[in-house]
Amino acid sequence: MTSLAAYRGAILHFLHEPNATAPGVTNPDDATSTALPAWQYWQDGLLLVENGHIRQLGDASELLPQLAAELAEGLAIQHYPHHLILPGFVDTHIHYPQTEMIGAYGEQLLRWLNTYTFPTEQKFANPAYAEQVAAFFLAELLRNGTTTAMVFGTVHPQSVDALFSAAQQHGLRLIAGKVMMDRNAPSALCDTAETSYSETRALIERWHGVDRLQYAITPRFAITSSPEQLNMAGKLLSEFDDVYLHTHLAENHDEVAWVKELFPTARHYLDVYAQAGLVGKRSVFAHGIHLSDDECSLLASRDAAIAHCPTSNLFLGSGLLNLTRLQNAGVKVGLGTDIGAGSSFSLFRTMDEAYKVQQLQGCNLAPMQALYMATLGGAKALDLESKIGNFAAGKEADFTLLDLHATPLLKFRTAHCKNIEELVFVLNTLGDDRLIEKTFALGRCVHQRD
Ligand code: GUN
Ligand code: ZN
Repeated sequence: MTSLAAYRGAILHFLHEPNATAPGVTNPDDATSTALPAWQYWQDGLLLVENGHIRQLGDASELLPQLAAELAEGLAIQHYPHHLILPGFVDTHIHYPQTEMIGAYGEQLLRWLNTYTFPTEQKFANPAYAEQVAAFFLAELLRNGTTTAMVFGTVHPQSVDALFSAAQQHGLRLIAGKVMMDRNAPSALCDTAETSYSETRALIERWHGVDRLQYAITPRFAITSSPEQLNMAGKLLSEFDDVYLHTHLAENHDEVAWVKELFPTARHYLDVYAQAGLVGKRSVFAHGIHLSDDECSLLASRDAAIAHCPTSNLFLGSGLLNLTRLQNAGVKVGLGTDIGAGSSFSLFRTMDEAYKVQQLQGCNLAPMQALYMATLGGAKALDLESKIGNFAAGKEADFTLLDLHATPLLKFRTAHCKNIEELVFVLNTLGDDRLIEKTFALGRCVHQRD
């Protein structure tokens, strides 16, 4: 038995990265150019979802007559006249155990870790506690329209079991891993090179490729892993075809200086990971603020990705990412909230701060570029563009319905938008979880605003 659902409303999605030579199109069905536009926008569109996947999308007036048989058989069109339908957001870097410590006052990275993060993460030795936080965390992702995330657990394997079990129940696409950490951290949070290998291996075998779940080998960062542990991570990466590598890179000046001391023979920070075989197509590095040109080129040549986390970078005073330099080097960049150094689960809040980080450097982050990074660009950063990120036929139907009348100000301001670019910029500037009326994963409604 097939299940067909039809959603009518304004629809926007991306076909590739926006740039000057390939603008988007506002009425794709009338477009005369044969070049593939960066984005497609239908003011009165129709999205058809069949068995959890995208069947078709287009202009409502064109598609509706083709549905005569289905309509006669009882298909109901779900009409959202003051909404925008978007692909689900992709959060490329977040820590679920840090949900309870968002807004920890007064410290930069290294002291913040010791003062707040490490004590908090010790609580996840208790599986019941991990289950409770995992459930809250996933509900928060969905309330914010995020349907895929790459997630840090803690050093405890049970933290990952709790998260994957909860994600599986929602039918979510999620990438996660247990932290590997064998030095420069409290002993209660340390594993060893050997136990991190065996525990990670067991988790990969239990979870990787089950439903929509995928595993990321997760050394916390170079400071908390011995060279032996990083080599074990590299060994794991070579033993499994399509698992991920997820870690932090060049976030903070004191961190970079300490890495230099700990790995005196490495050419640079990224070289520490490269020497252990950790830099490849499915490697995602959070932050990457303080990189050399050499490191940018290496990231690009290995097709590795940076997770840009602007709310975190501002909150911890870590610095301003030079996005233009990474883009010019050809590095894939997604957006991350980096909860709990980041201050919001919302990719709208994240896009807003990303814009300001560029403003502080005299650059403009175009609204369509920001939204691309939060959707298809994030999917590309996670090597998932064949499955999610836009509404191409056959992709998994992860999407959100944004209520443009969610607040009096949103209703008033969006009524004055002259085109879709302006509307997107206003949503990026004013938007948060209140905008998200419904979130769908694999075609199923997994969040409905109160
Ligand atoms: N570097 C190492 N661990 C962490 C963490 O938990 N959060 C952030 N923002 N940076 C890190
Ligand atoms: Zn982080």
